Amino acid sequence: MKFTLRTRGETFDLMFPSGISLLEFLQSQEIPVNAACGGKGTCTKCRCKVEKGFLPISVADRKAFNESELASGWRLSCQARPRTSLSAFLPGSENLRLKPRVVEFTDLSTTAPKSARLVCDLGSTGVVVAVIDGTSGKLLVESHLLNKQIPFGADVMTRLESAQRKGTEPLRKALFDTFRICLKSLDEAFKGGLAEKLVDRKLYVSGNSVMTSFLAALSIEELAVAPFQPASTDENRFEWEGYEIVTLPLLGGFVGGDTFAGIAALLDRQAPTPWMLVDIGTNTEIVSFDGEKMFFSSAPAGPAFEGGNITHGMRAEMGAISQATYSRESGWKLTTIGDDVAKGICGSGLMDVLAQAVAGGVITEDGYVPDGQVRLTEDIFLTADDVREFQLAKSATRTAIDLMIDRAGVSPNKIYLAGTFAQHLDLKSVRAIGLLPNDIESEAIGNASLTGVILRAISPESEIEKVKSEIDTKKIAIELALQDDFQDRFVRNLNFPKDAS
Ligand code: FES
Repeated sequence: MKFTLRTRGETFDLMFPSGISLLEFLQSQEIPVNAACGGKGTCTKCRCKVEKGFLPISVADRKAFNESELASGWRLSCQARPRTSLSAFLPGSENLRLKPRVVEFTDLSTTAPKSARLVCDLGSTGVVVAVIDGTSGKLLVESHLLNKQIPFGADVMTRLESAQRKGTEPLRKALFDTFRICLKSLDEAFKGGLAEKLVDRKLYVSGNSVMTSFLAALSIEELAVAPFQPASTDENRFEWEGYEIVTLPLLGGFVGGDTFAGIAALLDRQAPTPWMLVDIGTNTEIVSFDGEKMFFSSAPAGPAFEGGNITHGMRAEMGAISQATYSRESGWKLTTIGDDVAKGICGSGLMDVLAQAVAGGVITEDGYVPDGQVRLTEDIFLTADDVREFQLAKSATRTAIDLMIDRAGVSPNKIYLAGTFAQHLDLKSVRAIGLLPNDIESEAIGNASLTGVILRAISPESEIEKVKSEIDTKKIAIELALQDDFQDRFVRNLNFPKDAS
């Protein structure tokens, strides 16, 4: 069957095999589709509009679209199984084919031969491959790209489900495709001379347990089902296209190499104990260290913090509402990334909007939306379901923090927030909505995963062994969902604090 696809200024003429969904076909063609729920028909992000031909209406379509949208051809591509030739428009396609964003920190022409090293922060959403000075660890140039696994699902659970259905190979290939594009852009930054600047052909990678397992071809059998354990927590080394890839060790469960890197970064800066490290994301990872015992755990928050499963949610890209204030008199004042026309709301904007909406009485403390919607612009609004989705993510994270403080038996001096996402949050809003405790100081420490993997790359093996053995001997896993008071706390934390402002 012939399939013509129109998306963001590009038109593709493709041959469509029978028996698979439109989403599966687009993924097989490496056409990026936002499939936040991994094809379950619940997130509505994979919507497409039939322009010519016929697609039957599925049960999930009826829930996702109203009558007039269905009549104009809107369908969910994950539910669509075309039986005739078709032309369709795909608005939600994320242009993952775009070149990476390259940031140069120095005049690269002055880099001495055999002086640099390669490191990577392999996030579920964003990937950074960087060239650093091999001795000082100073960043020379970074290449940022969205993880090419995104079309397989917004978070690690949906990607694991995809791997269980279709095998891990497509997900592993997506990671290598991401690396290849980033490395090419870095080579271009060195005018084709990257290889001669490198001390060796090693690429040190810090990634969560799922990313590391896919990358190192570890079995995901036990990671995909409770109690969610990776096949190995050791450092992995393997060859790939002339590089030796070295992955950071994992702590266990979903607490992976990125958290190992974060701990290494805090130990290196001799952060006064007791401290807590929190990496807020689709899967929030938490470590609490009192100098003797290192408790660690993770909380599946889902994609709401990244705008996933939110009607007008989007990633922190041009046009995303990133800041907001509200007053009864003047209504909403919104700031968008790049001062562009508002296209949606990203995670930091969402926190501002909710903090302001609760303070302004637009939403009640228990998350009830009296008007049914929080309208920010003519086209962009939050629904009651969106607020609920956010409450679930917020409560999962806050409950995890509270339980970790409780089980560790000591309140941290400071909560260190890892990750670039946390760097863009207004901590006042974050506290106002109750995501973080009000009475504990917090500090955003930027991309601790990258800082830690840089330490790994430039430190002698003995130093790394010391950190690893310190973590190994002190670490204690906390299974949050098995704690007696988890459910009570979770329900309590769904509410927004009384004094949100
Ligand atoms: S609704 Fe199709 S991927 Fe989520």
